[in-house]
Amino acid sequence: MAEELIISDGCKEEKYALLHSQVEALTEGESDVISNMANIASMIHSTFNFWWTGFYRVIDNQLILGPFQGPLACSRIGFGKGVCGTAWKLQKTVIVPDVEKFPGHIACSSASRSEIVVPVFDKVSKKVTAVLDIDSDSLDTFDQTDRIWLERIVKMI
Ligand code: SME
Repeated sequence: MAEELIISDGCKEEKYALLHSQVEALTEGESDVISNMANIASMIHSTFNFWWTGFYRVIDNQLILGPFQGPLACSRIGFGKGVCGTAWKLQKTVIVPDVEKFPGHIACSSASRSEIVVPVFDKVSKKVTAVLDIDSDSLDTFDQTDRIWLERIVKMI
């Protein structure tokens, strides 16, 4: 892959399209999950300047903090707890336009206002092995465009 991330100055769709192609080039040559998660978190975070971008991995029936970009975050989240644990339980992407209106939201940072959590599935067992969590310091940041592209991106891990 290119040594430097190229960021489109176009619309959200164009930013994701370019990001997607760079993630594809990166992950094609790398099989290590943690390495890919680390670079993907960095690439998403740098492209959109989100507040927090990172992964929690399913280990011993809980979510444990993995590679991320942004401020310090809580280390462990239970099944069904918070937005992350809910996405894991429901096995689908959860979009929260206003975190204060999500019952049980875990506030790792008071600056976080909206959030999207995308499950990562094992290709063989189809079980959730991790979640991608992105926080924004603005309300209502995430929509179906984010969901579609982020679901495509995590498939490449
Ligand atoms: N807000 C998340 C917790 C993780 S931090 O945002 C990084 C949740 O409710 O699951």
